[in-house]
Amino acid sequence: MSDTLKRRAAERAVALVGEGFRVGLGTGSTARHFVSLLGERVRGGLGIIAVPTSETIHAQATEEGIPLTTLDETPELDLTVDGADELDGDLRLIKGGGGALLREKIVAAASKRMIVIADESKRVDVLGRFPLPIEVVPFGLAATRRSVENCLRRMNLPDETSLRMAANGEPFLTDGGHYILDAKLLRIDRPEELAASLQAIPGVVEHGLFISLATGAIVATASGVDEIGRV
Ligand code: A5P
Repeated sequence: MSDTLKRRAAERAVALVGEGFRVGLGTGSTARHFVSLLGERVRGGLGIIAVPTSETIHAQATEEGIPLTTLDETPELDLTVDGADELDGDLRLIKGGGGALLREKIVAAASKRMIVIADESKRVDVLGRFPLPIEVVPFGLAATRRSVENCLRRMNLPDETSLRMAANGEPFLTDGGHYILDAKLLRIDRPEELAASLQAIPGVVEHGLFISLATGAIVATASGVDEIGRV
């Protein structure tokens, strides 16, 4: 069911793409539906260029025949469509469950519009049930982790993080060659403050709180498709 809903949200989003658009391609299982539907439109004659947010989506978009560019060649995008691990009613997000948060955030920030596509399970009243991914450089991991956990403690949040591991038993490496600390915070009452505090820690490359980036969301539910913000 959830996959059907993801596809439904992607179908609505793909209709937003117009001729000549510069498009940011998100990462994750919902974004995959969008890329596959966009590929169909491109093969049907739609002229666009796109910037993928991960190596995985780069590979899928290439297979689909979607013309790709980079933010160096095309630093401003018209529309980015991406999934989310959680979204609240103010279009604040947790992202990075798939580990692509850094590129996703750079691409979203370079876009005039960012539309989130999701099934209803992602919609929450308060962010935090999904563990917050925090991307850190491998150098000085223990020191950075200690600073992150101190920061969480100061904000009266659960202060344990776990180092994300890959299937081969080694730490998971992002496309940028960084590690990810996941923080089970349960309830983030002040996401803006937490975002600013995490960002100020040396060694933290990025975190999965996306605030003031999404301009709209398409959330597919069993009874229809809801829109939040400007879609
Ligand atoms: C990738 O790093 C994430 O930010 C994804 O966008 C997010 O995890 C949503 O993925 P699904 O669409 O697979 O739930």
